[in-house]
Amino acid sequence: MQTSTDTIESQSNSGTRRRVFSGVQPSGDSQLGNYLGAFKGWGDRQDEKENFLCIVDIHAITVDQDPEELRRQTRELAAMLFACGLDPDKSTLFIQSHVTAHAEACWILNCVTPIGWLERMTQFKDKSTGLDSVSTGLLDYPVLMAGDILLYSAHEVPVGEDQKQHVELARDIAQRFNRIYDELFVVPEPVIPEIGGRVMGLNDPSVKMSKSYSHIRGHAVRLLDEPKEIQRSIMRAVTDSENEIRFSNDPERAGVNNLLGMYKVMTDKIESEVEADFADARGYGDLKKRVAEVIIEGLAPIQKRYYELMDDVAELDRMLAVSADHARQVSEPKLQEMKQAVGFVLPDHSRS
Ligand code: TYM
Repeated sequence: MQTSTDTIESQSNSGTRRRVFSGVQPSGDSQLGNYLGAFKGWGDRQDEKENFLCIVDIHAITVDQDPEELRRQTRELAAMLFACGLDPDKSTLFIQSHVTAHAEACWILNCVTPIGWLERMTQFKDKSTGLDSVSTGLLDYPVLMAGDILLYSAHEVPVGEDQKQHVELARDIAQRFNRIYDELFVVPEPVIPEIGGRVMGLNDPSVKMSKSYSHIRGHAVRLLDEPKEIQRSIMRAVTDSENEIRFSNDPERAGVNNLLGMYKVMTDKIESEVEADFADARGYGDLKKRVAEVIIEGLAPIQKRYYELMDDVAELDRMLAVSADHARQVSEPKLQEMKQAVGFVLPDHSRS
C-alpha cells in the first residue's frame, strides 16, 4: 500500500472534495455502534470527501486511565480504523497528541468560551455525576473538540447522535471567535446518519450502545468478538411481545427497530428492501439469526485485517507518522492565524 503525503496533498488540492473532520476516543473496545454510526461511513465516503480522522488521546486523559492501557488502546484503535476500510492514501488518520496545535488551539478557544456553555453539556453532566473529583479537562472537553474541528476548516463533522451537542457548541465557539476577532473559522455542520446514528444496547434498547458498558454481557457487539459471541449477543437481544418485522418509531418496538437498523447499515440496503428481506421470516428468531449472519460476515474481513496490522506495529506507527505530518501541514497555518488574530507576536522564523 503506497502511503505518501504527496498523494493526499494532490487530492486535497483538487478542491472538489468537502473537508470532513471526526474523532474517536481510544478508550475501551470499539463496538458496533462506533462502526455503524461512524467508522463505516468515514470509509464509505472517503472518495468523495477529504477526510481528517483523529484518535483523540488528549481527550482520553480527561478521566482516570492507565498509561500503558492508553498506549495499547491507541494503537489498537488505529489498526481497527485502517481495518474498517480507511485508506491511508485517501484519509488522514492521525493521533491527536502528535499534532500540538490541538492543545494550543484549545487554550485560545477557552478564552472566548463562557464557562456556562460547558456546564450545560449533557455529556459533562453524565460523566461527572457521582465522581468525587472531576478534572478541569472533563469540563473543557468540548473546547478541545472545537479546536480539533476548527483547525482543519472542516465543513462537515460526521458523528453519532450523542456528539451532536458538542458539534453545535463548536459552531457557537467558531461564531463567537469570528465576531470578536476575525472571520477565521468555517462554521461546521454536524452530519448524523439517519439510521446508525444511534445504535442502541442489545440488552436495553432505551440506552445507546456504548464502550463504557461493553463489559456487560449482552449489551454490545464488540468489533473483535468471535462469531459465536456475536451470535449469542444478538440472539439474546431484547425485543417485544409482537411479531411484526418492520421499522417503527414506537419506543415499545425499539429492540426490533435497532436490529433492523443494524441489518440495514451492514447490508447498505434501503428500508423497503430490508423489510422485503424479512417478508418470509418466521418471527423474531429468524430476524435475529439473519442479523447475526450479516454482522459476522461484515466483521470477518475487518478482524482479519486488524490482526495483520497489529502484527507489524512498526509499520502502523510509520503510517500514523506520515498522517500526522500531513495534519500538521494543514492545522499549523490556521493556528498561526489564530495567534495573529488574538494579538500574539509571531516568532521570527527568518532567523532560523
Ligand atoms: P466516541 O469515541 O465516544 O465515539 C466515536 C464515534 O462513534 C459514535 N458512536 C455511536 N454512534 C451510533 N450509535 C452508538 N451507540 C454510538 N456510540 C458511539 C460517536 O457519536 C462518535 O461519532 N467526543 C468524541 C470524539 C471527538 C470528536 C472530535 C468527534 C473528539 N474530537 C471532533 C468529532 C469531531 C467521542 O468521544 O466519540
